[in-house]
Amino acid sequence: MARLLELILNGRRHVGAVPDNVLLLDYLRETVGLTGTKTGCDGGECGACTVLIDDRPTLSCLTLAATAGGTRVDTVESLGTDGRLSAVQRGFHEKLGAQCGYCTPGFVMASAGLLRRNPRPSDAEIREALGSNICRCTGYVKIIEAVRYAAALHTAGAAP
Ligand code: FES
Ligand code: FES
Repeated sequence: MARLLELILNGRRHVGAVPDNVLLLDYLRETVGLTGTKTGCDGGECGACTVLIDDRPTLSCLTLAATAGGTRVDTVESLGTDGRLSAVQRGFHEKLGAQCGYCTPGFVMASAGLLRRNPRPSDAEIREALGSNICRCTGYVKIIEAVRYAAALHTAGAAP
């Protein structure tokens, strides 16, 4: 059965029809065309599919799209304004927090969610916030550095 889905997607009202059994990950990528959110393990293990629902990092591969009705969903496409990178995007870019980049949208969204709730996280809090995300090639030292730098940019006024 399909139902009407109404939500705020990347800051804009979105209305669509969605079958009850479609995952948010597949809805975003295949129906809406937002392919920044990645499919990794497809089973809740890697974090590549992380989006924000009402500012909370959420695994879209474990979330039915129909349950997102009435929420605010932000994907990696929501970040940055007028061609300028957000604080977290700059952090990953300038501190070399990505290599192949496949895991990066998930890390970026988990990090953006962290900075929205906690603009000045400790290293332990950064590690904890990224504990559900796996990177196979960069190594976590650079990623932690990227988020630390992003937090400093955010504290100085940049959007996370
Ligand atoms: S694709 Fe969702 S956790 Fe791996
Ligand atoms: S940058 Fe390649 S998996 Fe993380």
